[in-house]
Amino acid sequence: MTERIIDNFGRVHNYLRISLTDNCNLRCFYCMPEEEYAFTPHTKLMQADEIRQLAKLFVNNGVTKIRLTGGEPLVRKDAPEIIHALSELPVELTMTTNGIRIDDMLPQIVDAGFSSINISLDTLQKDRFAQITRRDYFDRVWRNIDLLLDRQIQTKLNVVLMKGLNDDEILDFVKLTNLYPLEVRFIEFMPFEGNHWSSNQVLTLNEILDRISEVYTIEPLEQRPHDTTKPFAIHGHIGKIAVISTMTMPFCEDCNRMRLTADGKLKNCLFSKEETDLLSALRNGEDVLPLIHQSIRSKPKSLGGQLTENFKDIEADSLTNRSMISIGG
Ligand code: GTP
Ligand code: 5AD
Ligand code: SF4
Repeated sequence: MTERIIDNFGRVHNYLRISLTDNCNLRCFYCMPEEEYAFTPHTKLMQADEIRQLAKLFVNNGVTKIRLTGGEPLVRKDAPEIIHALSELPVELTMTTNGIRIDDMLPQIVDAGFSSINISLDTLQKDRFAQITRRDYFDRVWRNIDLLLDRQIQTKLNVVLMKGLNDDEILDFVKLTNLYPLEVRFIEFMPFEGNHWSSNQVLTLNEILDRISEVYTIEPLEQRPHDTTKPFAIHGHIGKIAVISTMTMPFCEDCNRMRLTADGKLKNCLFSKEETDLLSALRNGEDVLPLIHQSIRSKPKSLGGQLTENFKDIEADSLTNRSMISIGG
């Protein structure tokens, strides 16, 4: 007997984000704590078949979309096997990746039928890429974006904006949508463990739109249900832009998301303090489904019950959460 996964505010949860690993082939300072970060050892990670079993359970209980995240999902050696297993489930399968290994795994990606992939890319400048990520992969990522577009895979770019870091590139990113059928998504910088967030670094939805409107004519597009983004068309461009405004205009009312961390813990919100250990339950032969329902029933109304309405009042040090690299966004 299956039952949809519904929280106490009537929100149906049909979208699962699965982090495959907290490891990554980049070292972005805002994602990974500066202090020595110990990657989770392989035995503590969900193994390929455990991921399949848990994903199947979620799909049997109403999940229609699964997004693979990391760290960087494609650094896992068995990523092709996991992708193949999940592609056999009746679910929309998608992924958020830094794009470095797309070329290595293109056949598997195409075979699995991905119709859309999100690529994290915060700069279009090769030197700045190396400075932000501490690795020299800009050209490879850029070639891989081209590969995806060639294969007609819908490609969205995630651009985390930070004042003084890359906000001088907003118009360059918008320009891209003139020639490429990309969706460029500007993201308000969010606080996580170890990322030294301060409200002064946040570029807000209104600031972003103001800067773009000085040069371009933009027109709001209809927001799809459960979407994180506020989308806009740019007059005359084939691509589009969007803003993810967690800090100034959150979208929690319509939330349908659950997160499974690489070590098998269920987070009912991106900013949740509590986690529910599904992997240990699975390994002990316990019934996992009641744990999922319990976790989602206790989901706070918005922002994990932790972030204040006015982002200027947020004290990043007082938040209890993981670092972004171990949540997966
Ligand atoms: P789509 O499924 O294409 O809408 O992608 P997405 O935006 O849900 O996922 P992606 O992994 O590309 O994340 C883009 C940005 O949105 C990142 O900064 C995520 O942290 C943020 N994000 C994703 N899901 C949520 C969410 O449930 N709540 C909030 N506040 N931010 C989210
Ligand atoms: N704030 C907002 N978005 C972030 N991401 C990583 N760290 C942050 C942050 N502090 C984004 C990356 C990636 C997505 C999963 O999360 O751009 O694409
Ligand atoms: Fe959902 Fe939490 Fe994101 Fe709000 S912050 S949309 S409740 S996951």
